[in-house]
Amino acid sequence: MEHSGYLTFALGKGRLAGNALKLFEQIGITCEEMKEKDTRKLIFVNEELKLKFFLAKGPDVPTYVEYGAADIGIVGKDTILEEGRNIYEVLDLGFGKCRMCICGKESAKELLKHHELIRVATKYPNIAKDYFYNKKHQTVEIIKLNGSIELAPIVGLSEVICDIVETGSTLYENGLVVLEEVCPLSARMVVNQVSMKMEHERISELISNLKRIQNKDR
Ligand code: PRP
Repeated sequence: MEHSGYLTFALGKGRLAGNALKLFEQIGITCEEMKEKDTRKLIFVNEELKLKFFLAKGPDVPTYVEYGAADIGIVGKDTILEEGRNIYEVLDLGFGKCRMCICGKESAKELLKHHELIRVATKYPNIAKDYFYNKKHQTVEIIKLNGSIELAPIVGLSEVICDIVETGSTLYENGLVVLEEVCPLSARMVVNQVSMKMEHERISELISNLKRIQNKDR
């Protein structure tokens, strides 16, 4: 691992990164460089605070953090559960709230109840396996998809899906319902295990500043 004196943040691309930067601004952590529109730059530096930021695909954030290429990551709980990396999850950031659910047509309720051998389409095969095999003790066939998961029960690929529900409108507009809830989700801060020791002071100060902001907003 590089000990450059910089604390490096890996942010999940998209809404998550935007919300994280807004939160950081409230505790005086800014990165002007990152606000530039249309930049092709991958890494952004705040020289004064000795901070670096980079954007990565959500599922890659825990990987960067486990290997120490980033000290800190901002990523959804869904990704943390799915990737199963050796990292510390230190804080619930309180935004990006949604639920991991088993969904399908209303008629699939009976199949779940009677533990029938059903097919489950999902972008999250590890979460689905853990839920059905370890929690429900139900044998199912998991089918990995990469997006538009709600299509699967409509076109007959699977009986149910294991997917994220936020507002519920994708389900509603496609005649599907939540059948079971797997777990609540939100954005989390994760930390590399070595950084947590080597940069303990800076990282715990960051965590307590973020907690203070959260308590004030409550
Ligand atoms: C996510 C998720 C659902 C939808 C839920 O998909 O997989 O499809 O959002 O949101 P809602 O409850 O507010 O309708 P995303 O938009 O990330 O794209 P994807 O289908 O390609 O995964």
